Amino acid sequence: MKKSLFITGTDTGIGKTFVTGYLAALLRNNGINAVPYKPIQSGGINTNGKLLSEDVAFYQSLTSLPYSQEELCTYCLEDAVSPHLAIKKANKNVEIAAIKKQLTKLQAENDFVLVEGAGGLAVPLLDEQERLYMTTDLIRDLQLPLLIVTEPHLGMINHTLMTVAYAQLKEIPIIGFIVNNMPRTPTRMQQDNIEMIEKISGFPILGMIPPMKEPIVANTNKMIESEDEVINLPLLFEKIEIFSLKKEEV
Ligand SMILES: Nc1ncnc2c1ncn2[C@@H]1O[C@H](COP(=O)(O)OP(=O)(O)OP(=O)(O)O)[C@@H](O)[C@H]1O
Ligand SMILES: [Mg+2]
Repeated sequence: MKKSLFITGTDTGIGKTFVTGYLAALLRNNGINAVPYKPIQSGGINTNGKLLSEDVAFYQSLTSLPYSQEELCTYCLEDAVSPHLAIKKANKNVEIAAIKKQLTKLQAENDFVLVEGAGGLAVPLLDEQERLYMTTDLIRDLQLPLLIVTEPHLGMINHTLMTVAYAQLKEIPIIGFIVNNMPRTPTRMQQDNIEMIEKISGFPILGMIPPMKEPIVANTNKMIESEDEVINLPLLFEKIEIFSLKKEEV
């Protein structure tokens, strides 16, 4: 069965790109044809008149992918602001249908597509005269279950539970959390934080990625090759399978 996920975070800069690239590389290393996809990126780097998506460049640095940047990022905007504003500033015509079409193509050509959002969950994508289109509208239109990336810092219980509550308000199915930057020997607070999000929300932690030392790409590849089980892949698959079955029932 084809699998897809939408990866969001409790905040911008929480590690969505790291987790998306890591998961894609890990799955590919396990013989699963996985590809990352970033529908809309803001903060593209202007390189000789062409905008470079840093997120796609990071995915490509972790694993070899048979796609160009344009195929893995449909809209790359220059300003490092919320997509709705970056789109307005660039005076760009963004078609959600083009994103849907590209996702369908990637799904048809691969076993697993990991879609990375921009910023967190309550992020506006289009602020047009006739409509306001939010990240949650895109997730619903693409019919994807949600994976939430969080970090074990002070305040994360609140941020994580608010993300969960917002997804639930918008009736988006959640498969679980990945805790990024979780030290292998956590403090009492870090350990308690992650236990509390599981206990209160009822959703599982599907993996915990430690803080990686420089050079990040080389060390991350070493971690993948050593088959260090920082992600519970069987549980991740089980949760996506449940979502797929529920979707078929509808
Ligand atoms: N586990 C980790 N170990 C070391 N560095 C990390 C780790 N996770 C993320 N980083 C670094 O933290 C920075 C932010 O991470 P990342 O780009 O993945 O966040 P993001 O949620 O995708 O941000 P954005 O909202 O801009 O898309 C990057 O420089 C990344 O390399
Ligand atoms: Mg990112």
